[in-house]
Amino acid sequence: MSQPSSAVVKKAEEYYDSSDADCFYNTVWGGEDIHVGIYQSAGESIYDASRRTVEQMAEKLHSWFSGTQVLDIGAGYGGSGRYLAREKQYEVSCLNLSEVQNERNRKLTEEANLSGAVQVVYGNFESLPFEDKSFDVVWAQDAILHSGNRKKVFEEVHRVLRPGGEFIFTDPMQKPGADAETLKPVLERIHLESMGSVECYGNYARELGMETIEVLQMPEQLVNHYSAVLHNLESRHDELKDVCDPAYLERMQNGLKHWIDAGKNNALDWGILHFRKANS
Ligand SMILES: C[S@@+](CC[C@H](N)C(=O)[O-])C[C@H]1O[C@@H](n2cnc3c(N)ncnc32)[C@H](O)[C@@H]1O
Repeated sequence: MSQPSSAVVKKAEEYYDSSDADCFYNTVWGGEDIHVGIYQSAGESIYDASRRTVEQMAEKLHSWFSGTQVLDIGAGYGGSGRYLAREKQYEVSCLNLSEVQNERNRKLTEEANLSGAVQVVYGNFESLPFEDKSFDVVWAQDAILHSGNRKKVFEEVHRVLRPGGEFIFTDPMQKPGADAETLKPVLERIHLESMGSVECYGNYARELGMETIEVLQMPEQLVNHYSAVLHNLESRHDELKDVCDPAYLERMQNGLKHWIDAGKNNALDWGILHFRKANS
């Protein structure tokens, strides 16, 4: 299913550019990451769990060496791009629709002395501003869900990948047959009619002739993560309300509860999906 893209893209841009969202994500996640973490024990910090997701994805790129050209679509504050540049010596292009996040990304990248290896580009992942066959790897974390036309995102990724290139991403998804009433408040919050699924992403890849390398489903991590964010929000509420709008915090709190309920009710999925473009 696809929604009129420009409206959905505009909503995402407005949301991520808002000072409330910037303040919340920067304060709660620690300014590097805005994605679901992989938790090994209860009570682990959001920062550590979020870093683990990046580490586990990076380990899966074992056939790529220094100088590999990576495109991170929906790159947020660019924490993953800096990790890949620093730890794997990859050359990374961070593409993102939010100029507020891009500005912070550029600043953090400069402070980390990584501006030579990480470039930050404004753009929409439904219409990538790059030539065909420009990248070895396309990377995305919890970003594609924001598209009103995810098939188009796959087509664009396929277009900019070199033959044999890999697409690795995480995404909050819906499970097949998920209860519509359970999903409704989650979808309303992100202004979407549907989410992707392992099945639909697998189909898009197959239609483009891409091979599936791995699909690793970890829906429990979505519940772990949103529970950790909710706990953080509630326990730091007094401090947060001085920097973020209390009405935004309340909406966020309700939104997180809906995500947690939907996850516990088996309506949601999350995991790492990894595909390869054909060699010829
Ligand atoms: C949940 S955040 C994830 C950020 C980053 N991937 C991370 O893991 O920290 C979703 C990101 O997708 C970006 N985004 C949403 N729609 C987009 C679009 N159409 N084109 C490019 N970026 C988009 C948002 O600006 C935001 O940075």
